[in-house]
Amino acid sequence: MNKKYRKAIIAGNWKMNMLPTEVKPFTEELRPLLPRQKTCEVALCVPHTHISPLRRSLKDSRIAVGAEDVSVHDKGAFTGEVAADMLADLGVHYVIVGHSERRANHAENDFMVGAKAAAVLEKGMNPIICVGETLEQRERGLTMEHIGYQVLAALSAVPDEKVRQCVIAYEPIWAIGTGKTATPEEAEEVCEGIRAIIRSRHGARVARSVSILYGGSMNAKKAKELLSMPDIDGGIIGGASLKPADFAKIIDAVAEVSEED
Ligand code: PGA
Repeated sequence: MNKKYRKAIIAGNWKMNMLPTEVKPFTEELRPLLPRQKTCEVALCVPHTHISPLRRSLKDSRIAVGAEDVSVHDKGAFTGEVAADMLADLGVHYVIVGHSERRANHAENDFMVGAKAAAVLEKGMNPIICVGETLEQRERGLTMEHIGYQVLAALSAVPDEKVRQCVIAYEPIWAIGTGKTATPEEAEEVCEGIRAIIRSRHGARVARSVSILYGGSMNAKKAKELLSMPDIDGGIIGGASLKPADFAKIIDAVAEVSEED
């Protein structure tokens, strides 16, 4: 399917790393490394404490600011939570929802993930909805069944006209932080399956405009092959997004792939 209808996105996911005071030196190192960055949208999804310093450091840059999570609630007595409009007010564009680390460590279920995606859209931002199977599910042949359920559950909370503003990230749990990247064929099979599910529910026009990313030990060496696949529109980068040079090489890979097209 033609990639011209959707954005290529490379999103860093810093997880719980770096200090707010380290943001400025990081961006100063990264920005000169991105001369060809126009071919894709680059985002850095950071801890809530890092959002304001990141925004300041990215002034006059095309790099978007992202968050790693959001509350399902609007406002009120929810100690420690951060609402979608608070993130929007800080200039956040992308919000990761349903990362497997939050599903596993913070008991987030598919319905909470859907509610978070809806809250993010409601405030004019784009959710990056993460889905992915465990190694056991893969070995038992349950990958697509599980992913299909996660995608449909999350999107069922999203108004029809806003589905195209969602980004889906396929992140096999066995690949995250393990150095064991999915092969381009494995990743493409699932990303193609995700697009087919969106097509059957929301039609071909919506399906062709939703960006689907791959995440899980994506690094400079593996990026180009993965990004060359027809249904992989970008990546979520954990470990490699903490090093400006590595992150920049992944972004460069998008430019190389689009030049070859
Ligand atoms: P990784 O993390 O690149 O370090 O595997 C990806 C993610 O969890 O989003």
